[in-house]
Parts: sequence; C-alpha cells; structure tokens
Amino acid sequence: MTKQRVAVILGGRSGEHEVSVRSGRSVLAALDPERWTAVPVGIARRGAWLDPMETQRLLDAGHASFGSDDGLQTNGRGALLSTGALAALESCAAAFPLVHGTYGEDGSLQGLLEMLGIPYAGCGVAASAIGMDKALMKALFREAGIRMPLYCVIRSWEYALNQMEVLRLIEDRLAYPCFVKPANGGSSVGVTRAASREDLPDAFKAAFAYDDKAVVEAAVIGGREVECSVLGNEHPQASVVGEIVPDREFYDYDSKYSAASSTRLDIPADLPLDTAEEVRELALRMYRVMGCEGYARVDFFVTADGVLANEINTIPGFTSISMYPKLWEASGLDYSDLLSHILELAFERHARRSAR
Ligand SMILES: Nc1ncnc2c1ncn2[C@@H]1O[C@H](COP(=O)(O)OP(=O)(O)O)[C@@H](O)[C@H]1O
Ligand SMILES: [Mg+2]
Repeated sequence: MTKQRVAVILGGRSGEHEVSVRSGRSVLAALDPERWTAVPVGIARRGAWLDPMETQRLLDAGHASFGSDDGLQTNGRGALLSTGALAALESCAAAFPLVHGTYGEDGSLQGLLEMLGIPYAGCGVAASAIGMDKALMKALFREAGIRMPLYCVIRSWEYALNQMEVLRLIEDRLAYPCFVKPANGGSSVGVTRAASREDLPDAFKAAFAYDDKAVVEAAVIGGREVECSVLGNEHPQASVVGEIVPDREFYDYDSKYSAASSTRLDIPADLPLDTAEEVRELALRMYRVMGCEGYARVDFFVTADGVLANEINTIPGFTSISMYPKLWEASGLDYSDLLSHILELAFERHARRSAR
C-alpha cells in the first residue's frame, strides 16, 4: 500500500488551543506509519498558520509558549498564504482537523478544506457549524423530539437592555440552579452554574465574554453524565457508553484538563443494559439528525426519569486518554486503527461527493 500524506491541523484561535495541541500530539504519534505520513500544520493563538517546522516548535514547546504568537509572522487575519502552511496542506492527500472550538470545530476550517478540495476527517460544514452553536443544535433536537433539559436563549443585547425581564424569564421557565453557557463554546469555557439570582450577572458576564448568545439551561439534579462515540458516514456505529464522574460540582475546565483533577472516566459505564442501549440508539439518532459524518461524541445526562440529551461534539478531545478514542478501544477498535478508519471515511465521502 502506498503511504499517503495527512495534514494534522492543530492549535487554533479558540480558548481550546492548548487542548487541541495535546490532541494533535497524540494523533501525530499514533497515525499508523505504514499507511500515513503525518504532516503537522499548526495554527497559532492569534491565527497565524504555521509551516510544518514552525508547528514542530509549537508541539515541542510545551505549555509556556501556548499563550503567544511571538516571533511568528501574523497579520491577524489568518495569514494562510504568507507561510508554508498552504503548501504543506496542498501536498497532502487528506487533512485531519483537530482544532477545537471556534475557527476549527465550527465549520470554518471545514469550509476552507472544501474550497481547497482536500478530503478531511470528521463532520462537514453544516454539521460542524450547528454542533458548535448550542442554540441551533438544541433547536434541531427539539424539532426531532429529543428530550433535553429546559432551556432558553438570551442575546447579550437583550440582557443589556432589560436585565430584569431576562431574570424573570429564567425564573418563570427554568428556576435555579441553572447553567449559563456561551452558545459557541466548548471545554466548559465560560460555563457557570448559577445557584440563585445573585449568581446570574457574573454568569452572563462569563458567557458573553465568548459569545453574544447565551444558552441558559435548567440544571439536571442528580443526573449522571454519560457519553457515546459514534463513527461512520452513511451507516454510523455507536461505541460502548462511558461515564464521567467529575471530582467537583460539575465537569468544568479544570476537572477536564488539570493534572490535579481526579475526575474519573468509567468505561464502560455501570448502567442497566437497557439504559446503555437507549443511550447508544439516541446517540445514533442525534448524529443523524445533525447530519454528522466521520465521527462525533454524543453526551447525555442519565436521570431517574430517563435519558436527556446534552450535546454533540464534532471534534471531541482526541488524546489517547480522551473519552472518544477510549470508548472505541473498549469496543474493540484501537486508537491507531480508529484514526485510519476516520481517514478512510474522509476519502469515502470525498469520492462519493466528487462523483456527483
Ligand atoms: N443542564 C445541566 N445540568 C447539569 N449539569 C450541566 C448542565 N449543563 C452543563 N452541565 C455541566 O457543565 C459541563 C459543560 O457543559 P456543556 O454543555 O457540556 O458545555 P461544553 O460544550 O463546554 O462541554 C457538563 O459536562 C456538565 O458537567
Ligand atoms: Mg460538554
């Protein structure tokens, strides 16, 4: 078999830059060297695209350098054409975007790859964009009759104009505790649990720091957080179900990524068989409703009176110890084979669409 070059795109402009670099490191190390030649393509924090050598510096640098684009040429506008990044991309047969959050997971990077005609791993433009916007995603799930916690969507200008009315709306529809989240976000960045009215101003401030649109959601009390990995284009498969057991009130950024976190991933989740089956079926249904392709992780709350949908992540954390690959490993597909499979799905979609 001839080896094919794969651009592993990592870093990026969102609050999840660092997480993406970690996912990228893991994927670069695990891509089957018999099948793929990995070409790292980094995007610095302020948007500069890096050529493979600069990217290697980003990968080698560790934590300290994540915060700046020091020494990198950037015009603040992405700077794709000013570096060797485009040449690196175009030299590849496929791309594996691992950029979480805005400008990566939200359809913009997928759109660029569409324009370049490069097959790429994971969801297409529309599913990526919807998956990144919790308000759009929930509207789609509601339309499909998928059960979720009660929620409402608040714009920053509505809040600024009439704070009291927003508070009343929340108290009428949802009550406390509730979660306030930026509609476009991930890794729990900007997510706050508000226990009472007093907590709302700071909660909105945190959410509006990331987006003009916030989703406010009734807290699921005593629910268990479970996740399911889905893989495939036209015939997606669901993995075993895993459970997140956070070491604090909720699964916030630190409990996700800090070395000091003692949050546990239970794989498979200790659930009654029929509940696990319900989660897997619901995961496939949500994947289809959103038009996902390639792969995605689907997250739920399991409560005493049923399973509630939380969200779909179209570029979930992808280190070798992240939930997405771990669930496949427990389902009999190891990390390296999973990566090859996702790339095969990218080629399959590209060939199918090109044939039209
Ligand atoms: N309605 C809710 N009830 C209980 N916990 C919630 C709720 N919404 C969010 N959380 C907690 O906050 C975390 C992050 O929220 P989530 O909607 O998954 O945002 P993100 O996209 O940042 O992961 C969840 O993993 C969960 O621990
Ligand atoms: Mg989440």
